[in-house]
Amino acid sequence: MNRSNPFLTAGYDGPETFCDRERETADLVSAIENGRNVTLIAPRRYGKTGLIRNVMRVLADRYDTVYIDIYATESLSDFARIFAERVVSSLETKREKVVSTLGRFFGSLRPTVSPQPDGSVKWSFDLAQPEAKASLEGTFEFLKSRKRPIMIAIDEFQQVRKYPEANTEALLRSYIQFLPDVHFVFAGSQLRLMSGMFVSPRGAFYNSTDIMSLDVIDRKKYRDFAGRFFAAEAMPFSKAAFDELYRRFDGITWYVQSVLNRVWQKGSGFRTRRDTDDAVKSLVDNRNLVFFDLFRSQSEASRALLKAVAAEGVVSAPTGKAFLSDHSLGAASTVSSAIENLVGRELLYKSENGYMVYDRLFGIWLRRDMVSHHSKIT
Ligand SMILES: Nc1ncnc2c1ncn2[C@@H]1O[C@H](COP(=O)(O)OP(=O)(O)O)[C@@H](O)[C@H]1O
Ligand SMILES: [Mg+2]
Repeated sequence: MNRSNPFLTAGYDGPETFCDRERETADLVSAIENGRNVTLIAPRRYGKTGLIRNVMRVLADRYDTVYIDIYATESLSDFARIFAERVVSSLETKREKVVSTLGRFFGSLRPTVSPQPDGSVKWSFDLAQPEAKASLEGTFEFLKSRKRPIMIAIDEFQQVRKYPEANTEALLRSYIQFLPDVHFVFAGSQLRLMSGMFVSPRGAFYNSTDIMSLDVIDRKKYRDFAGRFFAAEAMPFSKAAFDELYRRFDGITWYVQSVLNRVWQKGSGFRTRRDTDDAVKSLVDNRNLVFFDLFRSQSEASRALLKAVAAEGVVSAPTGKAFLSDHSLGAASTVSSAIENLVGRELLYKSENGYMVYDRLFGIWLRRDMVSHHSKIT
């Protein structure tokens, strides 16, 4: 077996395996250095989290950095808990420090502290509503007490719009604006929700951050990046094959990485689009059960719409006569509400050119098995 696979499909492993993003990294770093908070918006899988990790690496020698993913949070209490945990555990690494910090800033809340065999400490809150506020206050007090400047990235930030507590944003904003040495990056993929908070004059964070949208990686830079790894192992690499892969997935990072990862795994280079076909087949096969389950759990109207959109690729007028009758979708009103539902659940994506199946692999699955899994369901 040769060296480890350089095409990551999860996480971040330093500059060697990270392609480009030089301008975006510099822009983010300079915003932070100049005391501006940043909102980073792009669809899923473009590379937001990777970019944040890369920025954190660059800033690490001058800033303390904290990364928090709030995708799994459902309430202000969840947020307060994970925020406290991530902040304290990222900034205090020694066990005695953690314990004394908890005592000083969270005294009355009494989190459970459990020492781990490796010498670190694991701890957690179980917060009820009123304690959530107290915990947030404790965390912000702790942040204020730090000497070094801090950069905090909160990923999947649109999630706070889904909390039952309507005041969450205003509450966070009120704490954040009084922390001159703490800088925030708010990242999110749902444009409508993120805009509601940061771009709309009625949003709690209106005008308080730089708004940055992330595009896909430049094709030529990506091609050079990929080609170098194959060349280093004396494996063939076809520029045309790479370009075809890039076009097939509109350059979206995760899909390109996932295909390259599989092509690399075969160990015989990247020669033709056939290599991409094989990789895509394997990626889709792998998800067959998941997709099947996802599809089956949709309403009949949603299933029909998903298939119709997948068949077309991009649909600019989903309630137009032609689309409705070509795919026997029934009434425009039924389709409208199915669209709203599927967009809200990120199964459909509204691009500049029209609606498409959000997960490209799911789109391929829907097209591929158009006949066969229909018979399996009934
Ligand atoms: N600049 C990059 N070079 C190489 N791989 C990247 C780059 N940015 C992201 N990735 C990889 O692409 C995948 C998706 O990126 P991620 O940052 O998770 O996207 P997002 O947060 O926008 O959903 C991850 O597997 C990540 O490792
Ligand atoms: Mg992400």
